[in-house]
Amino acid sequence: MTIPLLIDTDPGVDDALAILMAYAEPSVEVVALTVTAGNVGLAHTSANALKLVDLVGADTPVHAGCATPLVRPAEDAAYVHGNDGFGDTGYERSTRELAASHAAQAILEASHAHTGRLMIVALGPLTNLALALRLDPTLPQRVARLVVMGGAVTGRGNTHLVPAEFNIGFDPEAAHVVFSGWPSFDLVDWEATVRQGLAFEDVERWLAADDARARFYASISQRTRDWTRERGRGGMLVADALAMAAALEPAACTRVETRHVAIELDGALTRGATVVDWEGRMGRPANARIVLEVAQARFEARVAAALGAA
Ligand code: BDR
Ligand code: CA
Repeated sequence: MTIPLLIDTDPGVDDALAILMAYAEPSVEVVALTVTAGNVGLAHTSANALKLVDLVGADTPVHAGCATPLVRPAEDAAYVHGNDGFGDTGYERSTRELAASHAAQAILEASHAHTGRLMIVALGPLTNLALALRLDPTLPQRVARLVVMGGAVTGRGNTHLVPAEFNIGFDPEAAHVVFSGWPSFDLVDWEATVRQGLAFEDVERWLAADDARARFYASISQRTRDWTRERGRGGMLVADALAMAAALEPAACTRVETRHVAIELDGALTRGATVVDWEGRMGRPANARIVLEVAQARFEARVAAALGAA
């Protein structure tokens, strides 16, 4: 029996790779893509999600969700992902229609349709999930597993507010709603992403595969690959793909620490930080299984397979 998987996402170049990985895994069935603003605006992230469904030849419903963070406006990441979120390649748009219901509603519907079995993988700001949780606080009781890509668990983030990682920093209030309302979830953070880069030579070899997915991904990722190289990174950093690898293969999570994690909402220098109670001083129950390492060979094998290179 396959695992029903809902992916909440803001595609996004690394989101795209993660989504291709999910479709390449036979033990899961992608039951919905729910889309949020984040890397770029909602019109682009929704169009990009529809395009990915075309690319893999699926008929997954794509639900647009929140166009803004819950409370305060935030800057997008177009400087990394391109103005359209997919490297500004001018790809041919999908003619598919978005599903009628809002992403938050779709999350609740999927939780009822697949009670006790649904896996949710959240690859963007947590706005849609927070809204779903506010609409129905019993949501976690029906979800088998939630995997979140977000945070920087020792304060080495990737935004101009140093300790904040992009997904959490884009909508800290939403992250607070989810982190304080979800009793237990898996967290794959930015610092793990940095430790688990993909060698450029390997990525280029996989992208040369004779496969439509490799050709499309080579095109939309060119800009981010160049950008990453120019910044002297040792390899390509694909946060959402790492989170998806952890989601698809729990046994590949080779180092995990379970701790209480809270979100800083107010700090002038720390808004959006994920504050981890490493020493257990706060006396609060642990809510996060922090995935500190995914077996690199398993991660790379999944990336290669997702691009048709395996
Ligand atoms: C996260 O931020 C986004 O830019 C990526 O898609 C990923 O979800 C990494 O911090
Ligand atoms: Ca993302």
